[in-house]
Amino acid sequence: MSAEERVREAVAGRREEVNAAIGEQLPIQRPEQLYEASRYLLDAGGKRLRPTVLLLVAEALTDIEPQSEPYRSFPGLDGSPIDVMSAAVSIEVIQSFTLIHDDIMDDDDLRRGVPAVHREYDVETAILAGDTLYSKAFEFMLETDALPERQVRALDELATTCTEICEGQAFDVSFETRRDVTTDEYLEMVELKTAVLYAAAAAIPAILLGADDEVVDALHGYGLDIGRAFQIQDDVLDLTTPSEKLGKQRGSDLVEGKQTVITLHARDNGVDVDGLVDADDPEAVTEAAIDDAVAELEGVGSIEYARDLAQELVASGKERLEHLPENEARGLLCDVADFLIEREY
Ligand code: IPE
Ligand code: IPE
Ligand code: MG
Ligand code: MG
Ligand code: MG
Repeated sequence: MSAEERVREAVAGRREEVNAAIGEQLPIQRPEQLYEASRYLLDAGGKRLRPTVLLLVAEALTDIEPQSEPYRSFPGLDGSPIDVMSAAVSIEVIQSFTLIHDDIMDDDDLRRGVPAVHREYDVETAILAGDTLYSKAFEFMLETDALPERQVRALDELATTCTEICEGQAFDVSFETRRDVTTDEYLEMVELKTAVLYAAAAAIPAILLGADDEVVDALHGYGLDIGRAFQIQDDVLDLTTPSEKLGKQRGSDLVEGKQTVITLHARDNGVDVDGLVDADDPEAVTEAAIDDAVAELEGVGSIEYARDLAQELVASGKERLEHLPENEARGLLCDVADFLIEREY
């Protein structure tokens, strides 16, 4: 089996477990429309990469056979069982909350292959569904049965993460009207809007299970590295992958005037990035127009530059896993890092 097939299988198995847990933890209740809208994106799909990272870290630390039963509970490093699945659901629920609000901010109509929540319902419902998921995530993070001080530390990590996502999203939006954004500013922005959730996914199971601070810090660093690489690949895929495969609108970043490492590199190399597509007329942004833009970006090496940068981050992230016991789950965490930048959707 190739490394990619191993990752796909590992993610698929854990996705099923996570989906079953979401069904149990987030039932439809009154007011029905609020909970239906809250479940709508969660049920539409999603790769479940972050909860998979969380579960694999728990498996690596406890050295249990991947996917052995019972799955929800892991023996804490000093004994009592920890409901790590509740933390995994919490992280995925935060992911869905950020996507619902992100699609309002980015004016995107398609998500996970279905209409975005603010299109399927309306903006009011989408804001509330996002807020509901946001607060539910804290409830779920409190249901892990970890020792109180570890529970508090995990909650602190989650709260800080959410604050940073808002900071990152604020930078992302403010960059749309700037033409002097630097690569360092971009990297800070993607660390905040995207990588911190991977860092939380990797560090929180270590906190809950009682790992040493050194291990928690290493896992946090792994998440920050692979998370930034993941966002760089997301920026590449926005340009290169058809909407049907991506489950979201191809070329959306060009239309919105997003600053990505690709457009920054292109601008530094003399490309008129604003002229790549006619953002004032989204209707004119056809597949052919995006293909032409991509050809120009490829011509000056901007896509290759982005891929190289992502590759460096993945290599750095994988090195940090040396702090984990050597076992199958650690190997899978290495393969996941590679997969994040090799994926085509
Ligand atoms: C999309 O994340 C949001 C970004 C940070 C780029 P994913 O590509 O992991 O989205 P889902 O959860 O699989 O839908
Ligand atoms: C999303 O970045 C980051 C968060 C959701 C916090 P993008 O705006 O690039 O994500 P997509 O491409 O819409 O999934
Ligand atoms: Mg977006
Ligand atoms: Mg966005
Ligand atoms: Mg994107």
